[in-house]
Amino acid sequence: MKYGFSDKVKYLKSSAVRDILKVINQGNIISFAGGLPEEDLFPVDAVDQAFHKAVTSSKKSLQYGETEGVPALREALTERMAEKGLQSSPEDILITSGSQQAIDLFSRVMFNKGDVILTENPTYLAALQVFESYETNVVAVDSDDEGMVLEDLEEKIARLKPKCIYVVPTYSNPTGKVWSLERRKKLLELAYKYHVVIFEDDPYGELQFDTEDAPPSIASLDKQNLVLYTSTFSKTVVPAMRIGWIVGPHQIIRIMAQAKQATDLHTNTISQHALVHLLHDFDIDAHIQTIRDTYYKRMLVMKDLLSKADIEGLEYIVPKGGMFFWVTLPEHFNTTELLNEAVKEGVAFVPGAPFYVSDAQQNTMRLNFTNSKPDQIEEGMKRLVQVLESTNVYA
Ligand SMILES: Cc1ncc(COP(=O)(O)O)c(C=O)c1O
Repeated sequence: MKYGFSDKVKYLKSSAVRDILKVINQGNIISFAGGLPEEDLFPVDAVDQAFHKAVTSSKKSLQYGETEGVPALREALTERMAEKGLQSSPEDILITSGSQQAIDLFSRVMFNKGDVILTENPTYLAALQVFESYETNVVAVDSDDEGMVLEDLEEKIARLKPKCIYVVPTYSNPTGKVWSLERRKKLLELAYKYHVVIFEDDPYGELQFDTEDAPPSIASLDKQNLVLYTSTFSKTVVPAMRIGWIVGPHQIIRIMAQAKQATDLHTNTISQHALVHLLHDFDIDAHIQTIRDTYYKRMLVMKDLLSKADIEGLEYIVPKGGMFFWVTLPEHFNTTELLNEAVKEGVAFVPGAPFYVSDAQQNTMRLNFTNSKPDQIEEGMKRLVQVLESTNVYA
C-alpha cells in the first residue's frame, strides 16, 4: 500500500539515541545511555497534591486555556528568572510542551529552506533533528573547553550570514561543558555586531554542583533583545508534566504562539495549574538542592572509576553540573562498534558520533550518571572499563 507521504518526511529521522534505548531497555543492562533523571528523586507527594489541588480547586484546570500559557505560571516564571538575573515580563513568555517544542516552534517561524544555523560540535541531537526537518543548513563552529572558538565563530558569521546561533552553554548535552563568562559576553558582542539571534537552550542550568560557581545565562546578559532562552521543568520536577517555556523578543514569541495554536492549541492545562500550585506550596529550591547533591555524588563515583581505567589517552571532561560525562577514547576506538560488545557484557552508553554536525569523532561516548544508583555505577563502570581494556588492542 502506498500512502503518498509529503516530501518533508525524508527530512525526519529517528534519533539514534532513542533507537539504542529501545534495545537497551529490554535486558538486564546497566544503562548510562539515556538522559533520564533519577526517578527516586521525583517529588511524588508534591506532584500528587498539586494535581489534586489543580483538579479540585478550579474547573479552569480542566478547560481549554490560553495558547501563551496559564498567566499565573508565566508570572511565577518571571519571578523565578528574575532571581537569576533574567528580567522578563509574562507577555514575553510562551509555555511549551517541553523545551523540545520551543525548539520546534522557533524553527518553524524562523527558518526557510537553506538558512544557516551555527551550532557547537557536538550538540544536542534532537535539536539537530528539528533543524534538519526544516531543511536548514546547520554548520558547526569549533569549540574548546570554554565554549565556541571566537575566531571561527566570527569568520563563519561574516561569511555565512546565519539566521541563528544555537547553543547549550551550561552543562551541555552531550559534553557536560560550561561556557566561561568571557565567551558568553563575546558571543553576545558578535551577535550584536552582525545582528544574529541567539537561541540559548538551558535545561540543565539549575543542576550546578557548586552554586557559587554558576555562570549567568547568556539571556540575562543580553541588552539588545537578541536572545531567546528556553528551559524546562523536566529535570527539576518531572519530565512527564511536559512543561517548558521560552522567553525572548516579543515579536518572535507572538508569532511562535500563533504557530503553537496550529500545533496543539495550548500546553496541557492541568499540568500548568498543578505546577503553579507546586511552585507555591512546595520548596522547589530545596528539592533542586537535593537533586544537585545526589547527582554530584554519582558524578564523583563515575569520575573515580574513569580515572582508574588503564587506557592511555582516555580523556573526559569533569562536569560541573548537569547529567553527563563526555569521554574521548584513543583514536583507534570506534564506540558505535564497541557498544555491541558492551551490551553483551551488560552495560550501555551512547556513542558520540550522532551528536556531531560534521567531522564526527567515532572515538567519543556520552555517559549519563544521574539515572543509576552509586552501586550500579560501580558495577556498570567495572563492566565498561573491562570492555574498553580488552578491546584496546593497540595498547
Ligand atoms: C539540550 C536539551 N534541550 C532540550 C531538551 C528537551 O527537554 P524537554 O522537552 O523535556 O523540556 C533536552 C532534553 O534532554 C536537552 O538535553
